[in-house]
Amino acid sequence: MKFPIYLDNAATTPMDLKVLDEMLPYFLENFGNASSNSHVYGWTAAEAVDIARQQVAELIGAHPSEIIFTSGATESINLAIKGVFENYKEKGNHIITCVTEHRAALDTCEWIENTGGEVTYLPVDSEGLINLAELENAITSKTVLISIMYANNETGTIQPVQEISELARKHGILFFTDATQAVGKILIDVNEDGIDMLSLSAHKLYGPKGIGALYVRRKNPKVNISSQIHGGGHEKNMRSGTLNVPGIVGLGKACEICMMELGSEPGAIAVLRNVLERELLAINGTRLNGNLENRLPNITNISFENVNGEALLLDICREIAVSRGSACSSVTTKPSHVLKALGLNDNLALSSFRFSLGRFTTLSQIEHAANTIRTIVENHRNSTR
Ligand SMILES: Cc1ncc(COP(=O)(O)O)c(C=O)c1O
Repeated sequence: MKFPIYLDNAATTPMDLKVLDEMLPYFLENFGNASSNSHVYGWTAAEAVDIARQQVAELIGAHPSEIIFTSGATESINLAIKGVFENYKEKGNHIITCVTEHRAALDTCEWIENTGGEVTYLPVDSEGLINLAELENAITSKTVLISIMYANNETGTIQPVQEISELARKHGILFFTDATQAVGKILIDVNEDGIDMLSLSAHKLYGPKGIGALYVRRKNPKVNISSQIHGGGHEKNMRSGTLNVPGIVGLGKACEICMMELGSEPGAIAVLRNVLERELLAINGTRLNGNLENRLPNITNISFENVNGEALLLDICREIAVSRGSACSSVTTKPSHVLKALGLNDNLALSSFRFSLGRFTTLSQIEHAANTIRTIVENHRNSTR
């Protein structure tokens, strides 16, 4: 068994070797610029991009022309929120989001506030769900966008996306969802879900880092967003810059594999997640964070009472790679804003861990991890008695 055991797939996933194989020729012999339309090098690259666009679209039930390639979910989120804010200024300047969003969305909303916009941050209940009545009450004649994530990156809790989109439609407001953690883990259909924009990222679904996409609805309604990166007018003028062809090919292949695996992989991962969860919750003084019914199959978030979270993490990380909070904020010792929003106090939030499983997680890894954590937690509690 390789140590530390990797249970941090929500931070990033290892690449699937099939993805790497697909990408390699586009670093080497097929190195062309997808915008070079006067020779075969360019045509080959453009053809690969077309195939990838189709593969990404298929995974979320979109049309290929609705896929805009970006450098990852952070950029997609910035493009969606700022792009709508700037383009729909005539209509209004109000955006509704939620306190448990990823920092990429929260920081973008803060930027919106600093540039004259208004943002309402909806609270969540103790399981991380927004209240639909509160959402509807927050809507004003100036509201242009509802931005609520599909599934939370720390707890896996899935928001009532279809109900949110129905409210958005009823009031003629656009709906953007950050589905970075959900795409490839559960079945998503942008039309059935009534989503107008959606962000995704390759490195969360066994693809490479530094490539992602934004889905932008082309009809019913047609969404228009202002570009945030200006240049050669690539990606229908929404995102300029020479296309990252190997990355795009990798994202496409990763989506194709997820599409093939969606029927069985999530169920198999949930079985392992449940084994881990059952074992950990059997330890005294533990509790589960998030909603039990509506959640991703691969994440569980568990609090350990009466331990020092920092010291516990130091011992655990030698054997198991897990995280407190999200990867981008786990270097700070600040308690997670998500867990605090669920009502946890600072201490408990700091001694809560996210365990996220993936395609390559095995039962023996899970059994070893559960035993190791039990021993470490009990040792910590005994040593402080
Ligand atoms: C929910 C969510 N949104 C956005 C991001 C940012 O993704 P990227 O690393 O592709 O910028 C992440 C990654 O941590 C995430 O989990």
